[in-house]
Amino acid sequence: MTIPFRRAALAAMACALALPALAETAPESTDPIVINGGEVELQTAAPAPEHLDGALDEIYSGWLFRDPDTQTMQTDDFENPGMIFVDQGMDEWNMVEGEAGKSCASCHEDVSESMKGVRATTPKVNKDGALWSVEDYVNDCRTSRMQAEALDWNGDRMKNLTALISMQSRGMPMDVAIDGAAQPFWEQGKEMYYTRYGQLELACSNCHEDHYGDWIRADHLSQGQTNGFPVYRLKDAGLVSQHNRFRGCIRDTRAETFPIGSDEFRALELYVASRGNGLPVEGVSVRH
Ligand code: HEC
Ligand code: HEC
Repeated sequence: MTIPFRRAALAAMACALALPALAETAPESTDPIVINGGEVELQTAAPAPEHLDGALDEIYSGWLFRDPDTQTMQTDDFENPGMIFVDQGMDEWNMVEGEAGKSCASCHEDVSESMKGVRATTPKVNKDGALWSVEDYVNDCRTSRMQAEALDWNGDRMKNLTALISMQSRGMPMDVAIDGAAQPFWEQGKEMYYTRYGQLELACSNCHEDHYGDWIRADHLSQGQTNGFPVYRLKDAGLVSQHNRFRGCIRDTRAETFPIGSDEFRALELYVASRGNGLPVEGVSVRH
């Protein structure tokens, strides 16, 4: 029974979103996320980066669009259900594995020193000219430096590590490069962002640029920013990677989607990250 209902709801949603008028609705407030009684303060709004001229004036954290209970969970690291996975990521960091007999810590030592800023500037072009996400760097270290097996991109062990690595950039503004060697990847991602997918013929922009602040179904649409990833999703009771979120959104348009860890999703990840340049990395955010 849920499938026809869902289809009908999505079709109705597509009609609503097809209205030509823009319906961007700015959030009522843009209070910062105050964590652990003021120990950390994360801004939830920033001027849009220049490349979004004519598209958006301000960029907003997805946190602003969530209900108060969900918001509150992110204001205390003991209440934030994602933090347990950061702890597990720390165990992973110290775990010796592979033929080389090394752990991440053997080479990188203190995670808070060595991984600071990595999340804020990734995806980025590596020394061989390929666009790499944090997951690619992790797996390259595992396979070529630890002689261990690559981790599943969307598996728990990888998500625990990306959560740990994200936390080391908490509060730092997203600052991915979009020029130079990154530019062709960025262009590819931009094109994807504005491409209408699926039977519903909806592009990312139709929802997250034209209609953020609107309600569709029981959902308050955000700008689809990625500065909070990996996010703890209450619905999944676990961490969700960026590519998995993209896959979910594309599936909702009833389209075939790209695989997690594909070059297409890397390019999209870069472009979406660049739309959030200026918003602070949230470490592990909580979403419904
Ligand atoms: C044998 C040493 C070694 C081990 C073990 C190792 N790494 Fe690395 N890692 C490196 C080196 C060297 C680089 C490249 C540094 C550079 O180019 O600046 C690197 C780069 C990285 C980067 C990219 C950093 C950046 O600034 O872009 C990440 C992320 C990373 N490693 C994570 C990990 C994780 C997670 C583990 C454990 C699963 C791990 N590494 C294990 C040596 C190691
Ligand atoms: C049919 C409308 C729709 C389309 C099209 C759509 N999304 Fe979403 N997206 C949603 C909804 C609903 C949510 C959950 C509420 C929210 O955070 O906006 C969401 C959430 C997200 C989030 C999580 C934001 C956060 O703060 O946790 C990201 C990232 C995202 N979308 C990216 C994309 C990308 C990239 C595309 C295009 C490939 C896309 N979306 C297409 C409806 C859509």
